[in-house]
Amino acid sequence: MDKKISYGSAIGKIILMGEHSVVYGEPAIAIPFPSAKIKTSIYKSNGDTVLNCFSYNGALLEAPEEFSELKSVIKKVVEDLDEKLKDFNIDIKSTIPSERGMGSSAAVAASAIRALYDYFDIRLDNNTLTSLVNFSEIIVHGNPSGIDTAIVVGEKPLYYIKGKPLEVFKFKLDAYLIVSDTGEKGMTKFAVSKVRKFIEDNPARGKELIESLGKLSSDAKKIIKEEKIIELGKAMNNAQNLLKELRVSNETIDSLVRVSIDNGALGSKLTGGGLGGCVITLCSTKKEAISISNTLLNNGAKNTWISNMGVEEDES
Ligand code: MEV
Repeated sequence: MDKKISYGSAIGKIILMGEHSVVYGEPAIAIPFPSAKIKTSIYKSNGDTVLNCFSYNGALLEAPEEFSELKSVIKKVVEDLDEKLKDFNIDIKSTIPSERGMGSSAAVAASAIRALYDYFDIRLDNNTLTSLVNFSEIIVHGNPSGIDTAIVVGEKPLYYIKGKPLEVFKFKLDAYLIVSDTGEKGMTKFAVSKVRKFIEDNPARGKELIESLGKLSSDAKKIIKEEKIIELGKAMNNAQNLLKELRVSNETIDSLVRVSIDNGALGSKLTGGGLGGCVITLCSTKKEAISISNTLLNNGAKNTWISNMGVEEDES
């Protein structure tokens, strides 16, 4: 029996290292990002299902192209559960704008799937959730590595290699990470296809860049274990240069990276697909993170979030 109202939620992610190369089987490191929170509510109603999500409020089946993966996964869940796509409405709220490289497509899908299973009173296991979020991610950008799905489902830091068992990656680093929003929608699908094109056109250099990005992820894993934050900053800067050569950075990202470094950050790079979205900046103290965050806001960042990397508080 369906309920009167049900909820589902999910949080976003930050890729610290290894975006793009992870699609080619190289390792990547991702951490949950609780500031990016999605909440789905499902209400009993009468008639066709209405979707209220980001900029859209209208019939689910008439939702524009940008909601096609959400529409498809909702239809699939309803069919899989042998239910009907009517007499309930779906309301999705997010603390972050869409397409900022924080895994919001996977998080939106996960929260909607969780809410639907709750609404129809069916227990949802992680394998089913993973395959449904992947189904939605394949519609979003064709050839996902699965990292966004894995972190959104498990909500634990991960050292991730496509097709390998998940390796939960514990870390506690006495450092702070600023996430700054370029205000531009990232274009993951386009960025992934641009990287593919670069590799096709420049096979030798493309292979080198992908392998170097992978090596930076495995180095970063060791560096984080040894708590060498200066080395981590350097690895982030190197990754940004390689991603830039793969053509997935842009002027806005480059400018926020430059502002970060010029103001004393340990390292800075894009996170996620690039071509917009967000930049991450590593700082050694909270005081420095607050100061650089303010400078970023005065120099084009549309929003910033500061996250401690597993430490409780900074004394400085
Ligand atoms: C997107 O969050 C990360 C990419 O590496 C794509 C993927 O892993 O599927 C760009």
